[in-house]
Amino acid sequence: MSDHIRRPATLITGANGEMGHGLIEQLAKEGEHAIIGLDVHPLDDVIAEKCAATITGDILEPRLLERLQSEYEIHTVYHLAALLSTRAEFTPEAAHRVNVEGTMNLLKLAIEQSRWHGAPVRFMFPSSIAVYGLPDGKEKRKLGRIREEEYNFPTTMYGCNKMYCEHLGRYYSQHYRQLAADTLIGGIDFRCIRFPGLISAVTLPSGGTSDYAPEMLHAAAQGKPYSCFVREDVRIPFMAMPDAIKALLLLHEAPREKLTRSVYNITSFNPSAGEIRAIALKAFPSVDIRFSPDDKRQAIVDSWPADVDDSSARRDWSWSPDLDLDAAFQEYLIPEIHQRYSR
Ligand SMILES: NC(=O)c1ccc[n+]([C@@H]2O[C@H](COP(=O)([O-])OP(=O)(O)OC[C@H]3O[C@@H](n4cnc5c(N)ncnc54)[C@H](O)[C@@H]3O)[C@@H](O)[C@H]2O)c1
Repeated sequence: MSDHIRRPATLITGANGEMGHGLIEQLAKEGEHAIIGLDVHPLDDVIAEKCAATITGDILEPRLLERLQSEYEIHTVYHLAALLSTRAEFTPEAAHRVNVEGTMNLLKLAIEQSRWHGAPVRFMFPSSIAVYGLPDGKEKRKLGRIREEEYNFPTTMYGCNKMYCEHLGRYYSQHYRQLAADTLIGGIDFRCIRFPGLISAVTLPSGGTSDYAPEMLHAAAQGKPYSCFVREDVRIPFMAMPDAIKALLLLHEAPREKLTRSVYNITSFNPSAGEIRAIALKAFPSVDIRFSPDDKRQAIVDSWPADVDDSSARRDWSWSPDLDLDAAFQEYLIPEIHQRYSR
């Protein structure tokens, strides 16, 4: 039996993904947590060595969940495992299984953990601007910043999955088995962030609809031509990955009594695709970046807001990004991506 067993632990699902990499780096720096990293793919060595335990397995696998239940004392879950928006649209039923049933499995695990060790389990859930469904691009341009409760009519399977999981999290934390004699309300402390498109310098994006921004940069740094699948004038909110990790940790640490909602918007900057191209060209002048919009993917991006209102997060848990557009590109993305491909 190794030393992480029965030590208070933090479980990260989807640990080998873009966000998992950044989160594990940061949690390991803080050093307080015995990190259990779980992913359907083996964890990269660089993050595996920072975990007290790594598990390769599927969150839909009952035996894996039983093992987690019996071997670990889990106080926080960062439930990052998901099939992202583009992939989910090709395999909607599989997306439902991973994104919804997988989340149910983790919520259930968290409730049982809480019953077992007697403290609420903090359940951190990354939702997405994909939960919004604006009527069309014309309407989108007229609207200002969108609040959490507006336009909740997702047009993608991924958006529907995230929206429902936001409700499941609220149900499990505030109403779970409300009619039972041994009601377990309060076993889960569910905290959710609706992330904008995320751009990481460290990992390559895979399967998201906002991927055109990071793909453009990563292609430019390698001197490869890039054909962008949305129109030049399209605009959605983005954030650099270090700020996404900062937000998860800030919300995790926020005193419960300060939180006025279970789901929060956050944002940092919202350049058009053309503006991102201009930044990429300034850093990598000889590259060929063109726009050849795919009508179907364009329609999905047109249903997402050009900007979101994150005033609740700013008020309740002092959210503010460290990296604005200029700093994100000039101080983080371009130098790191440059270095990555010049090695
Ligand atoms: N990247 C973004 O722009 C963005 C924006 C908003 C929200 N999010 C959300 O943040 C979370 C993390 O996103 P990411 O960018 O790191 O995605 P990612 O695709 O890089 O990582 C997801 C990870 O989940 C794992 N996974 C998938 N199915 C699994 C299963 N059945 N069992 C175990 N592991 C499984 C994958 O192997 C992958 O490593 C996701 O929930 C995503 O929906 C991401």
